[in-house]
Amino acid sequence: MKVLRTPAEVHSLRDELRNRAVTVGLVPTMGYLHEGHDSLLKAAREENDVVVMSLFVNPTQFRAGEDLSTYPRDEERDLAIAGQSGVDYVYAPLPDDIYPSGYATRVEVEGLTEVLCGSETSRGPGHFAGVTTIVAKLLNAVDPDVAYFGQKDAQQATVIRRMAEDLEFRTRIDILPTVRERDGLAMSSRNAYLSPEARERATAIWASLLETETVFAESGLDAALDAGRHHLESAGITPEYFEARYPGTLDPADGEGSDPILVAVAAKVDGTRLIDNILIEPERDNRRKP
Ligand code: PAJ
Repeated sequence: MKVLRTPAEVHSLRDELRNRAVTVGLVPTMGYLHEGHDSLLKAAREENDVVVMSLFVNPTQFRAGEDLSTYPRDEERDLAIAGQSGVDYVYAPLPDDIYPSGYATRVEVEGLTEVLCGSETSRGPGHFAGVTTIVAKLLNAVDPDVAYFGQKDAQQATVIRRMAEDLEFRTRIDILPTVRERDGLAMSSRNAYLSPEARERATAIWASLLETETVFAESGLDAALDAGRHHLESAGITPEYFEARYPGTLDPADGEGSDPILVAVAAKVDGTRLIDNILIEPERDNRRKP
């Protein structure tokens, strides 16, 4: 496995790979790897000749006052995991090489980025502009055949798909299922911040989404959202949002019809911001009705 540090090194790798006519899979990450990341690396390994993982805590997607400076980092461990998962190249640049002095360009997806995590009461639309800017730069530099993202960050996945389509990136965007701890908590680098007590309480997030799914099948969407929110609040967790939306457009879901519904939640548990979501399939759930 080789570690690349600068855009120039990635560009010359790309030239070499183009000459060899191999397929390339890219897994963008901010490091502190866990099994969620690993599932993306394994898929990339199975489906491509060459696997590139990027490792970059992207400063432009953090708001002032967020956890940029304390975001967990352990490059040595990440490189060991990447090596074990069959990654061929890790691209781990420095912020100054990605955003050199004079840098002035932002890639912004409208609409989709203004709800859920993008609303002003949450991380704000600037968060997603940071994400789409770095992902556009990575897609441009690595020019992969396939790029892999996780359903855990459902809105991020929707926004990146939109950007790739709108800007005519020819990379296929693959979204893989959320990997969970045994008790259901979605794996996240930020879980490392949780005290044992908060870690225990955080299980209410996934439980509240399962509760929402169950009640939806019996009593419809409004009752389901009430039940999910109530479940969370009973564990002493006040959600930043707990909403039902259609996954492709992020328009509010009304619970009528047979389109899948994304129920997404963000909540701080003891100061640590966690997100999770569930996709509810109305038709399948309706069939479960007695
Ligand atoms: P990061 O949080 O490191 O996540 C990297 C990728 O792993 C994302 O596509 C994310 O959705 C996926 N992922 C995280 N937790 C997962 C889980 N439990 N199961 C499955 N996949 C999971 O997301 C980012 O970094 C950044 O925003 C990035 C896209 C790299 C741009 O900076």
